[in-house]
Amino acid sequence: MSLVTLVDVLEKAEGGKYAVGAFNCNNMEIVKSIAEAAEKENAPVIIQASQGAINYAGLNYITALVKTAAEEVDIPIVLHLDHGTDLDQIVRCIRYGFTSVMIDGSKLPFEENISLTRKVVEIAKAVGVSVEAELGRIGGTEDDIHVSEKDALFTDPDEASVFVKETGVDALAVAIGTAHGQYKGEPKLDFERLEKIARKVSCPLVLHGSSGVSDESIRKAIKLGIRKVNIDTNIRESFVGTIREFLNAHPNEIDPRKVLAPAQRKATEVIREKIRIFGSSGMA
Ligand code: G3H
Ligand code: 13P
Ligand code: ZN
Repeated sequence: MSLVTLVDVLEKAEGGKYAVGAFNCNNMEIVKSIAEAAEKENAPVIIQASQGAINYAGLNYITALVKTAAEEVDIPIVLHLDHGTDLDQIVRCIRYGFTSVMIDGSKLPFEENISLTRKVVEIAKAVGVSVEAELGRIGGTEDDIHVSEKDALFTDPDEASVFVKETGVDALAVAIGTAHGQYKGEPKLDFERLEKIARKVSCPLVLHGSSGVSDESIRKAIKLGIRKVNIDTNIRESFVGTIREFLNAHPNEIDPRKVLAPAQRKATEVIREKIRIFGSSGMA
């Protein structure tokens, strides 16, 4: 089927109190893994590309790959720009056929984040494209966040309420203790904060940096209002890890199909498992 918007899938997720998986892609194998996993689970899915992925693969390739994947399967697929920071890039993605974009103005002062996000919403809404924004700072696992910095860096529930009303975004990424990349220890999520944000904000909430967060914490976050869960690192680990194992066992193999096929199968398994945890299995 043709691509759908983030609003299409998140409205249903809100009704059913589950979350839709948003998986990062960089190449054909990973796009296929995501689409096949979602098809096998009969689940809606978000395939997202970061600016880095677009620089690597090319906007035309990424768009064509995901559109082709959507044509091959009978489940709703959203093509989403992950962590867009550049207005020109966002407009290019919309022009190529992305059905959803993220504007990440989280490094900007509050008022500037509002005004940039509002501009993106104006442009995207005019052509029926959904918009996710970010408030608070979701860093990398390498940024050591001290307890004393939590209030400054995590999403403030009152600010979130003002932000969503002023911008009209369709989804909001919140900083509640997750980080991008591989965690050194077990991440501790601020569920109290999430509960307060969910009470004050009308749009669906997004959890970034979800690889390495325990299944139990993910389920609890979904119970409290998370409707989109972003996973990249777990795909990288399974995909590249399988390639590494294969090449260790077959150091003389030169056929890329033989090297990449087991990696693609492994990534599909990992994504299926995530979809089941998010509760979106059977919800297509
Ligand atoms: O949020 C970050 C995603 O994992 C994408 O990472 O910018 O290295 O493609 P990337
Ligand atoms: P992880 O790589 O930590 O899973 O985070 C993914 C993400 O948030 C993409 O925006
Ligand atoms: Zn992210």
